[in-house]
Amino acid sequence: MIAKADIKIEKTTHSRVTEYDVNNVPFGKCFSDHMLVAEYANGQWEKASIMPYKDVPMSYAMSALHYGQAIFEGMKAYKNDNGEVSVFRPLENFKRMNKSAIRMAMPEVPEEIFMGGLIELLKLDASWVPTSETGSLYIRPFLIATDEAIGVKASDTYKFIIITCPAGKYYSEPIKVLIETNYIRAVEGGVGFVKAAGNYGRSLYPTRLAQQKGYQQVIWTDGKTHSFLEESGTMNLIFLIDDTIVTPALSDTILAGITRNSVLALAKEWGMKVEERKVSIDEVLKAHADGILKEAFGVGTAATVAQIIGIGHVDNYYPLPPVEERKFSTKVDETLRNIRKGKIEDTLHWMFKVQ
Ligand code: COI
Repeated sequence: MIAKADIKIEKTTHSRVTEYDVNNVPFGKCFSDHMLVAEYANGQWEKASIMPYKDVPMSYAMSALHYGQAIFEGMKAYKNDNGEVSVFRPLENFKRMNKSAIRMAMPEVPEEIFMGGLIELLKLDASWVPTSETGSLYIRPFLIATDEAIGVKASDTYKFIIITCPAGKYYSEPIKVLIETNYIRAVEGGVGFVKAAGNYGRSLYPTRLAQQKGYQQVIWTDGKTHSFLEESGTMNLIFLIDDTIVTPALSDTILAGITRNSVLALAKEWGMKVEERKVSIDEVLKAHADGILKEAFGVGTAATVAQIIGIGHVDNYYPLPPVEERKFSTKVDETLRNIRKGKIEDTLHWMFKVQ
């Protein structure tokens, strides 16, 4: 039971939903009618309001812009055939956001604001949730430091905001990924395990270099030896080697993905062998050479399951088996979709109903 938050609600007088085909919009570019904004000052969360989505005035000295005290989450809401809206495992995102907040010296967001605000927001913007098979409403909660000050210190003021946007597939095609052995995403003791805005900014230049070579994404390797695989782009990485699900173990350089956790839970439920451990480049290339690297895919909220059809390493390219032959990832993708859309029983209690 989520405690009820004291949230002021100002509804829009003119919904923009009819201006879009919510089942057919590009990812992250059209925003629904309302947003939640909560303010932290004087050591406490003071105000939370839902208001029409709009631009807001801000100071160019705002500390988030200069020193990166900025964290976020990504979740998705789905509509079943009866038009009921549910969110996939939002309490996990709530917990992860507060882990990120602690590491970034930011205040934790209370559950009644995160969850209570989310519920109220989704009740108002239910008509923005797509009904298409692969559609969802992408939910972006974020927390930013708002002090108007250039000194380097933890801000005294913050804003917690939730905006949402209808979304279809993040990747329209299977992807090719390049193992990155020069640049790094995260190092031990750093912030790789939190959803800090800077983790994404720093990924863009290496990703651009990989794209210039014909890849869509990179696979990050460990910062010390560049010999172990960590994540792929903005996703966790999973392999089917022979008949075992193999994925890099969580550490302080890897984001604890909620889709990753869900895929592993399903694999275990289906009686498959699951190994969470260090995964070396050598092991994956050897599995490829031995013909037992059956599947490789990225998992994340935005992408859900992104099939990897080939892996690049230095000057070599290793094509992987066709997507049509991939029984595990196809089944896991379909099962997740069916749970989310209410087409099969949610035995693991992952769907949070908005009522
Ligand atoms: C998500 O999957 O929600 C992500 O964080 C990826 C995103 C940066 C689009």
